[in-house]
Amino acid sequence: MALLNVNIDHVATIRQARRTDEPDPVWAAVQCELAGANGITVHLRQDRRHINDRDVMVLKETVACKFNLEMGLSDSIVKIAEKVRPDQVTLVPENRAELTTEGGLDCVKLKQRLTAITKRMHKKGILVSTFILPDEQQILATADAGCDAVELHTGRYANAAGDNDIEKQLNLLRDGRDITRAAGLIVHAGHGLTYRNVRPVAKIEGLCEFNIGHSIVSRAVLVGMRRAVDEMKRLIENPF
Ligand code: PXP
Repeated sequence: MALLNVNIDHVATIRQARRTDEPDPVWAAVQCELAGANGITVHLRQDRRHINDRDVMVLKETVACKFNLEMGLSDSIVKIAEKVRPDQVTLVPENRAELTTEGGLDCVKLKQRLTAITKRMHKKGILVSTFILPDEQQILATADAGCDAVELHTGRYANAAGDNDIEKQLNLLRDGRDITRAAGLIVHAGHGLTYRNVRPVAKIEGLCEFNIGHSIVSRAVLVGMRRAVDEMKRLIENPF
């Protein structure tokens, strides 16, 4: 059965709107876990626009389920991951001007760096996943670099307009799943998934882990974090 990691970055976004100390993403992580989340994901960005170093350290000490740290490839962030030792890192492209992570990581171009980072993470017992478009060359480069998993970017599916485009994007995700599994890697998925659009993706067999953030935090503002997580978990576990 597919697992749900809740990305709680936007709890920190609300805190940073006032540069105060509430709401605390650590409190949110506890609520997510009590509601049955299988993992907690945060993205420590270079500009620290939401999650900060303290959050990552306290989450590591607090979260009992999987702790997945999203991060770019800069050396300063890699050093923090080595120190904190999350269960998993998901490597993403990072562009300062973007509102959220845009395209996938270019693992073909970055293969050497990716290989070096993966070795460093594995030395610390950390699993490595790459956030990529469902593209064969990117998947194979991830496998060559020695990574453990890929997170297939569902953003194009989420933005697809019309049945044909939606079906095309779902087929690309299915093909991506097949190539990833054939390469011996675990398949995750995420980005842009919501309560309205998650079902068709959750029906794709073999997607082991979902990373979902904005939609869950948005619903949590209105109904509470525990209910929001529970409702998403039900959709993922029973998509038919
Ligand atoms: N997966 C990755 C790699 C991401 O960068 C993000 C956004 O931080 C997500 C999943 C979650 O996306 P969303 O907030 O749209 O659910």
